[in-house]
Amino acid sequence: MAKGWLVWMSLLASLAIAEQPSAPKPIAAPIRPLPWGQLNFLQTTDTHGWLAGHLQEPQYSADWGDYISFAERMREKADAIGVDLLLVDTGDRIEGNGLYDASDPKGKYTSDIFKGQDIDIICPGNHELYQIASGAREYDVTVPNFKGKYIASNLDYIDPKTGEQVPMAQRYRKFTTKNQGIRVLAFGFLFDFTGNANNTVVQPVEETIKEQWFQDAIREKVDLFVVAGHVTLPGREYKAIFRAIRSQNWDTPIQFFGGHSHIRDFHKYDSKAYGLQAGRYMETIGWMSIEGIKKKSGEIEESQSSAGISFERRYIDNNLFGYHYHTGLNATTFPTDHGLNISTSIYKARQALDLDHNFGCAPKDLWMSRAPYPSEDSLYTWLENEVVPDVVVNPERKDVPTLAITNTGAMRFDIFKGAFTRDATYIISPFVSKYRYIKDVPYESAKRVLTIINNAGQVLSTPELDFSQLAPPEQLSIRTSPSPSPPSYQPNNNNLQSPLLSSPNHPHLLPGYTTKDDGGDEGDDTLHTPITFYRVPNVIQSALSLPADHDPDVVDLVFIDFIEPWVLAALRFTGQGYGASDVAVYRNETLTELMAKWIMKNWGKDC
Ligand SMILES: *[C@@H]1O[C@H](CO)[C@@H](O)[C@H](O)[C@H]1NC(C)=O
Ligand SMILES: *[C@@H]1O[C@H](CO)[C@@H](O)[C@H](O)[C@H]1NC(C)=O
Ligand SMILES: *[C@@H]1O[C@H](CO)[C@@H](O)[C@H](O)[C@H]1NC(C)=O
Ligand SMILES: *[C@@H]1O[C@H](CO)[C@@H](O)[C@H](O)[C@H]1NC(C)=O
Repeated sequence: MAKGWLVWMSLLASLAIAEQPSAPKPIAAPIRPLPWGQLNFLQTTDTHGWLAGHLQEPQYSADWGDYISFAERMREKADAIGVDLLLVDTGDRIEGNGLYDASDPKGKYTSDIFKGQDIDIICPGNHELYQIASGAREYDVTVPNFKGKYIASNLDYIDPKTGEQVPMAQRYRKFTTKNQGIRVLAFGFLFDFTGNANNTVVQPVEETIKEQWFQDAIREKVDLFVVAGHVTLPGREYKAIFRAIRSQNWDTPIQFFGGHSHIRDFHKYDSKAYGLQAGRYMETIGWMSIEGIKKKSGEIEESQSSAGISFERRYIDNNLFGYHYHTGLNATTFPTDHGLNISTSIYKARQALDLDHNFGCAPKDLWMSRAPYPSEDSLYTWLENEVVPDVVVNPERKDVPTLAITNTGAMRFDIFKGAFTRDATYIISPFVSKYRYIKDVPYESAKRVLTIINNAGQVLSTPELDFSQLAPPEQLSIRTSPSPSPPSYQPNNNNLQSPLLSSPNHPHLLPGYTTKDDGGDEGDDTLHTPITFYRVPNVIQSALSLPADHDPDVVDLVFIDFIEPWVLAALRFTGQGYGASDVAVYRNETLTELMAKWIMKNWGKDC
């Protein structure tokens, strides 16, 4: 009893400065202030369940409770100076972290934690829709949690009781801001996604914008349109929406918020239309400020001069050092009771799920894209050469020559040297994908599948079978990036323990985001040195039990179930007409379970 009380007290003491008790303390770094305007926004996107923050990286170590305190303090500041602050979230809130994935049912804890934040505009991402259960949770739990705020402009739900197709949520939201009286009309879109389970219906954006309700909405007299969406900023969907709104409103400002590709980005559509995208995984909180919005009085529009409006952005590193700096508060004055409460809920959920349980100690860092592939520091080389040949093999087929193909997007994050926890298994590989196979595929065809999927993707890609979906989402930006090097996005993990000795003349910067976007190169709030980024292929291949001295006639072609349509398309391209009925289960365990099994067997527990 007494012991329990002490543990509880020390927990409360450590939570009094918030962030999770095991999170590394933030490190001081040179930081740029936030530009404030008449109307300001905080954006999150692609949080993927990382509501506990990053427990191995100090620059992203604040948790969702700290973000709640931050938003509450920033709202107080906005009220004090008479401007407005709105919060936006653009989807992919789930899948990718033990806090969401390890519970049964998935999301048992995260829904309540997430709803602690008072979000003004929230919309769905593709990840909410892959599974029947997650689509249903969206309709049954998230939409009511954010009643009046959740917008689904192009998404319907099929009610399992009636079989009826109904809007997932309202199509748009019209409201007036509290302090400035700005009239806002907001949409909430999802890109033209086709991989959803059969209980949701995604309407292509290009069709939605022809519908009467949308055509009526863009004719409403408002001071600002906000287009929130799980859509990349330069994507064709946003181009179409931009053109549609501009066709009716030649100078009404439009603020887009994007997501999906996991990068920090800021995009100019015209001098009065900009878009912001706030990265991924609770690393980044996006800040947007607009100054010079003209309020149209009734039906009579005031002078339509385009002078005077300005859009500014910042990418806030999610840590307490920055939160204190931007609010002008300190460890005592910053946290709100509500924020602390949510930090405690996160801690309790992580305990209940035993997320710190150690499966084994990673002997070194293994990188998705901060090391070249192939190389000894590449996560993919490790998977291809060590994990797959050892644990993926089906015992009944173990001596059969086999080619096993895994898509690189099946891995979502780096492995850091040190404890590989239950949490990490979901962080690295949150999917429920399993290996399937086709037996006795002619080797001459099977051996070409890897190359076809990696190289002929652009040629074979269709909207339904987009080969770029197979690599990690961060790589989506490469195709649209004007320069050969994409915006850098990867966090740093070096020198975590070394204090930052910073002086104005000689700052020692940590490697991290150094974003270049349509606004220039001063968007990051925290100054970093850049990180080198390497491209990865769409898929990797492990060859098992191949004879050393000759080519086999036929092989088992093994692949992760997610990529089945692409594998069948590649086989058709080689002249082999296999169909879904030729595909059988190869392993019953998920890739995540197989990886954890390999780690328990091969990495020691004493870190
Ligand atoms: C949707 O898919 C599930 C599982 O794949 C299946 O059981 C169900 O019958 C399908 N429903 C419809 C309406 O097609
Ligand atoms: C925090 O700020 C308050 C008010 O300015 C001040 O009284 C207090 O001493 C500060 N606390 C710390 C830990 O710096
Ligand atoms: C904190 O959480 C408790 C229990 O969940 C709740 O009763 C209380 O109202 C919360 N307080 C705040 C300020 O959110
Ligand atoms: C997978 O599980 C099913 C049902 O339990 C079983 O019939 C089948 O043999 C298993 N397949 C493999 C490859 O383990």
